[in-house]
Amino acid sequence: MTNTTNSRITVTAALPYANGPLHIGHIAGAYLPADIYVRYQRQQQRDIIFMGGSDEHGAAIMLRAKKEGISPQEIIDKYHELNKETFERFGISFDMYHRTSEPIHHQTSQDFFTRLYEKGEFTEQESEQYYDEEFQQFLADRYITGTCPVCGHPEAYGDQCENCGSSLSPTDLINPKSTLSGKTPILKPTKHWYLPLDKYQPWLEEWLLKGKKGIWKPNVYGQCSSWLKAGLQPRAMTRDLDWGVDVPLPNTEGKKLYVWLDAPIGYISATKQWAQDNGKDWELYWKQQPNEADNARLIHFIGKDNIVFHCIIFPAILHTHSEYILPENVPANEFLNLEGRKLSTSRNWAVWLHEYLDELPNKQDELRYALCSIMPETKDSEFTWKDYQAKNNNELVAIFGNFVNRTLVLTQKYFDGLVPTRHDLHPMDEEALQKLQEIPAKVASAVESFNFREALAYMIDLARTGNKYLADTEPWKVIKQDQARVETILNISLQITANLSIISAPFLPFTSQKLQAMLNFQSTDWRDAGRDDLLPARHTLEKPALLFQKIEDDWVDQQVAKLHQDDTTTEEEPTTNLAPMKEEITYEDFVKLDMRVATILTAEKAKKSKKLLKLTLDTGLDQRTVLSGIAQHYEPEDIVGKQVCVLVNLAPRKMMGIESQGMILMAEDADGALVFMQPENSVSNGSGIS
Ligand code: 2FM
Ligand code: ZN
Repeated sequence: MTNTTNSRITVTAALPYANGPLHIGHIAGAYLPADIYVRYQRQQQRDIIFMGGSDEHGAAIMLRAKKEGISPQEIIDKYHELNKETFERFGISFDMYHRTSEPIHHQTSQDFFTRLYEKGEFTEQESEQYYDEEFQQFLADRYITGTCPVCGHPEAYGDQCENCGSSLSPTDLINPKSTLSGKTPILKPTKHWYLPLDKYQPWLEEWLLKGKKGIWKPNVYGQCSSWLKAGLQPRAMTRDLDWGVDVPLPNTEGKKLYVWLDAPIGYISATKQWAQDNGKDWELYWKQQPNEADNARLIHFIGKDNIVFHCIIFPAILHTHSEYILPENVPANEFLNLEGRKLSTSRNWAVWLHEYLDELPNKQDELRYALCSIMPETKDSEFTWKDYQAKNNNELVAIFGNFVNRTLVLTQKYFDGLVPTRHDLHPMDEEALQKLQEIPAKVASAVESFNFREALAYMIDLARTGNKYLADTEPWKVIKQDQARVETILNISLQITANLSIISAPFLPFTSQKLQAMLNFQSTDWRDAGRDDLLPARHTLEKPALLFQKIEDDWVDQQVAKLHQDDTTTEEEPTTNLAPMKEEITYEDFVKLDMRVATILTAEKAKKSKKLLKLTLDTGLDQRTVLSGIAQHYEPEDIVGKQVCVLVNLAPRKMMGIESQGMILMAEDADGALVFMQPENSVSNGSGIS
């Protein structure tokens, strides 16, 4: 069992490539959840470290250097500084923000390679890889583009199609082109060192499939189990490149370590640097301890595109090395969309964090709040400026800010800013105090289980409780008859306010500090949360100021207009998740389809199938059975009598032992929702569709 109370915790957040600035998708994916988690654990006084840094190797850096016409070194220097500073300004509280170009990192990843090499873990294989004859170099996966064999997207990369998300190999691409010369590359033999992931399959099935079931998030576990079901293949741990960590073997000029043998080890080298700078022992945070109960708990925060590397490849490397701990959890998030479209760096469809901070240097918490409330924890989610405004105006201003402000202003007005004494309690007071006691534990439990949206909702619920308490008790009316009663009401409201300053700290660190300054109170200890005596009677408060300001519609309109202005998407480019258009057909192809209107006479669930409904249709020509994959979208009893469109001359097909004699036409949107295509008015069955 994991000891969640005392043990050390090592938290990492994916090292972003130092090849461009950070946008809100990066933040919502990995860095904000990591920061909330770490800030909370620090308040719990746990021994926790938060490691991050720039990923400065790999083709991503070289491509950017080529695009900007400067050297890879200049690229990484520029973006490392920018991203490090941006994280700081946004309050992402890394203990170390390191660089994979540092010598300590090169040494650490070479040591890993050497250890695995000396243990005889690698297999040496010669294989054919794409080579650009004009540039005289082998091409990294990202240097090759071509048509995706899965969805037909014309600009898929050699390792992945960004349109349909399929993971690819360069040789899967149809019509491959080198991004360096624009020419078709040739295949040429080259030697590399492979990690036999297939050999670790049984171990991964035990450790991951059995061991993490019900523990890891379903989106993470599901992706891993599909990889394992498909069967793992050996993966090359070296590349033909001239930018990266040298392979520590003789006669390997022109070869570097694969970036995924290099980048995650960056977490370890960052820890080494942090330990050196702070007089600590890095091994306590990474190595297995003599007594298993003393092992640190390793948690990787990442986005979903990094799941396989952190859940399968890196654990296999750590396991094979044999001295290291393995990740306890990898709470990866899905993707964040922006104003109805996928975020896209290349099309400049993004909210860049440094630009946001330049415009609104003191509104970090407003964005942290909005992003946390829509964090793509279980599925992709969407950021819109309208929603940002709504969260700001309706929750931060109207609930949190309003409650705090009313409490502090009334205390100034009636009691000169001194905390009043509490007297006998009424049922309403008891109720508010009860909530005050319960909510911190709920926030804590949600954060511990990586449910940050839920945790945020509990946090704001405490402010809502306070707001309602003031509205119900109406101290501004009661003051005329009963000052003692108002003393009690404001004492309780102030205790709630002090609690808010503690439990909001992981989410809204800047606000929490401002609030504590106004309360002339300090606590960074979560164990204070839930107490109703944080501010003693006669404690002096500072002058209050507004915590949040309302955002007007005009400003929102400007932000949306700016996005569209900066958008570099051309008209031909797809802007949605829709599948690309299929191959052209002729009119003759089209008229072969015999589509008719039919009425559904009966409908029932097909036996042994979750997806299929068995329907009897009156097609005008006959009555026939058709199976349709709509059981998760329609109840049988709701569709009897509906007129639908049917392809009647499709060759019959047997499914679940039943012959289906046709196909019902449905519209399917990008989210998978299905709806019938229906005639606008009732027409006779058998009417042709053309
Ligand atoms: O996907 C990326 O941006 C990679 N640079 C992530 C690396 S995560 C870790 F391994 F460092
Ligand atoms: Zn594709």
